[in-house]
Amino acid sequence: MRIFVTGGTGFIGGRLITALAKRGHQVVALVRTYERARELPRGVRAVAGDLTKPESYRTHLVGCEALIHAAGATTLGPSRLERERLERINLGGSRDVRDAALAAGVGRIVHLSQASAYGDVRGRAVPEGERPDPARTVTYAAAVRAQAQAGAMDAQAGGAPVIVVVPGQVYDPLTPQPADAEFAVFRRDGLWVLSGAGSLRCWTPVDQLAVGLCDVVERGALGAVYHLAGESRRARDVAGAIGPARLWFPTTVARGMARALRDVWPAQAERWRARAGADHVLDSARARAELGWDGDGGA
Ligand SMILES: NC(=O)c1ccc[n+]([C@@H]2O[C@H](COP(=O)([O-])OP(=O)(O)OC[C@H]3O[C@@H](n4cnc5c(N)ncnc54)[C@H](OP(=O)(O)O)[C@@H]3O)[C@@H](O)[C@H]2O)c1
Repeated sequence: MRIFVTGGTGFIGGRLITALAKRGHQVVALVRTYERARELPRGVRAVAGDLTKPESYRTHLVGCEALIHAAGATTLGPSRLERERLERINLGGSRDVRDAALAAGVGRIVHLSQASAYGDVRGRAVPEGERPDPARTVTYAAAVRAQAQAGAMDAQAGGAPVIVVVPGQVYDPLTPQPADAEFAVFRRDGLWVLSGAGSLRCWTPVDQLAVGLCDVVERGALGAVYHLAGESRRARDVAGAIGPARLWFPTTVARGMARALRDVWPAQAERWRARAGADHVLDSARARAELGWDGDGGA
C-alpha cells in the first residue's frame, strides 16, 4: 500500500514507519523540515509541510491508499498562545488532513488519539466506541485531543472511511524515560522524582503499537474504534517504563498544590493536577478479537 504518514519524525511515528517499511509498504512522510527527514528510514519519501498549512501537503495525498495521522503536539499547563497552538495543530490540523485525504480519494484514514481524551476514569475500563467528553479531561491538551477524536468519530458517523486508534501509555522498554511529562517532577542525572505512583494505565510498548497500527491500516474495519492497550497496572508497579532510580512525589501534596494554585496560577495548577495522577484504562476487546492484538509484551 502507498501510505501517507504524519508525525513520522516523532516517537510513535518513527517506529511506525520502520514497521510499515518492513511490511513492504511505500511510505510518504510529512516532515516539518528536510533536516528532520534524515532520521527516516531509507526509501521513505519525505514531503516538507505543516499540518496547519494543508496547501503544503495536499497534492501529495493524491495516489495514496491510506493516511495514518500520528502527528500532534502537547503541553502541560499551556499559556493562552500555547492553547491556540494546540488547537491549531491537534484539532484544526487533524480535521484538515482528514478532509484533504477524503478530497484526494484516500480510502483508509487512521486517526491516532490518546487515552487521556477519556479523562480520569477512576479504574473503569473504557469500551471501544465510547465518545470522549472534553469536560471530563484533566488537562487542556487532553480536552483538545477529546475534541479531535470526537471530530473523527463524527466523520465516521457521516460515512467517511475513518478508523480511530487509541493506544495506552506508550513507552519504550529498551529506553526507559518518562513517557509523559506529567510523571516527571524533577530529573537530573540519576535522580528522577516522579509522580502519579497510583495512576492506573494500560502500558503499550511502542513497537507493539507500531505493529498494531500496521494491522489496523491493512485490515481494520472502516468506522471502527480500536484500543491498542495492554493490561492495566499502577505506575509504581511497572518496572522500567517511566525511568530508573525512582523517588515518588506524594500524591496528597500534588493535589494540595493543584488546589492552592487553582485561582492564582491556573497553568501551574494544571501541572500539579496532572502530577497528582489519573487513571486511563482502556478495554481492547475489539482489537484483540478482530486484529489478534496482543498488547501485553514487556511492562
Ligand atoms: N507518547 C504517548 O504516550 C502517546 C500515547 C497515546 C497517543 N499519543 C499520540 O500520538 C501522537 C504522537 O505522539 P508521539 O509521542 O510520537 O509525539 P512526538 O514524539 O512529540 O511526535 C510528534 C510528531 O508530530 C509532528 N508535528 C507536530 N506538530 C506538527 C505540525 N504542525 N505539522 C506537522 N507535524 C507536526 C512532530 O514533528 P517534529 O519532529 O518536526 O517536531 C513529530 O513528528 C500524538 O498525537 C499523541 O497525542 C502519544
